Amino acid sequence: MTVSELKQFFQKELSAIYSESENNELFSIFCSQILGLDKFQQRRSSERNLTHDELENFKNIIAELKTGKPFQQILGETEFYGLKFSVDENVLIPRPETEELLEIAIREIRKLKPNNSVFKILDIGTGSGIIPVVLKKHFPDAIVSAIDYSEKALETAKKNAVFHHAEINLIHQDYLNANLNEVYDIIISNPPYIGIEEETEIADSVKEFEPKMALFSPTSNALIFYEKIAEDCKSHLSEKGMVFLEINQKLGEETRSLFSDVLSQVHLVKDLSGNDRFVFGKK
Ligand SMILES: C[S@@+](CC[C@H](N)C(=O)[O-])C[C@H]1O[C@@H](n2cnc3c(N)ncnc32)[C@H](O)[C@@H]1O
Repeated sequence: MTVSELKQFFQKELSAIYSESENNELFSIFCSQILGLDKFQQRRSSERNLTHDELENFKNIIAELKTGKPFQQILGETEFYGLKFSVDENVLIPRPETEELLEIAIREIRKLKPNNSVFKILDIGTGSGIIPVVLKKHFPDAIVSAIDYSEKALETAKKNAVFHHAEINLIHQDYLNANLNEVYDIIISNPPYIGIEEETEIADSVKEFEPKMALFSPTSNALIFYEKIAEDCKSHLSEKGMVFLEINQKLGEETRSLFSDVLSQVHLVKDLSGNDRFVFGKK
C-alpha cells in the first residue's frame, strides 16, 4: 500500500467519527509520528510503499481512534504552550483555555515581579504538570510547588518536569482536606470544576478516557475548590500576592464574588470563545 492509498483507507475507516478536516489533521499527525514525514514530505512521498510494520502500526491506531480515544493519549504526548508534554490516561489532556490562563498569569506576574526575583508559586491540581513547568520556564528563579491528589498524575508531572529540566516541588495531597504549610506569592489552579449535574453535557469520549477526578467536583458543589482557595488566600497568600484561576463558565460571577472579600482587585475574564473562564486578582 502506498502513502496516498493509506490516506484514503484512513479516511474511509474514520469518516463516521471524524470530519474530513479532522481526518486530514489526524492522518498528518500519525504520518509524522510513524513515517517521520512532515506535511510537505507526505505530499512528495505519496507513492512511497509502506512496510508491513508501518501498515500494522496504522491499523492499530485506526482501531484505537475508532474507540473515541483522544489522539494525544494514543501518541502519548501533546504540545502545550509551545512545549512537548507526556500525557496518558491518568491526566487531563491540556486544553487551549489553560494556555490562555498562563498567558494572563505570565503577563501579570511580569508586571509585578522584577526579573530574577525569587518568589513562591503554588499550582493546585497540577495533572500533567503543564502549569508549573511553563511557569518555571518563564520565571526560572521562582520556587515552584504543585499539588495533586492522584499519585499517577504526579508520576506524569514528574516525567514532564524532568524532561524540561524544571525543578518543581511535587506534593501528593488531598487539597480539600489538608492545610497548606507555606505562604505563596502566586496561587494558580485549574481545579475540577464540572458539577455532578452537568455530567450529561460532557462528551462520552471525555468521560470515558479522561480521569473523572480531574473533571468533576467531588460533591454537588462545583465551587468547592474555589471556596477553599479563597479561604487559603487569607493566610497562605502573601501581601500583594496574586491568584489565577480557570473556572466553570456558568459560575463566573459566583466565583468572582468568593474572592471579592479576600483580594483587593478581582477580574473576571472571558476566553477566546467568549465564555467567562478566568478569575484573577491581587491581594
Ligand atoms: C482539571 S485537572 C487540571 C490538570 C492540569 N492542571 C491542567 O490544567 O491540565 C484537575 C486536577 O486536580 C486534581 N485533583 C482532583 N481532586 C484533587 C484534590 N482533592 N486535591 C488535589 N488535587 C486534586 C486531579 O487529579 C487533576 O489532576
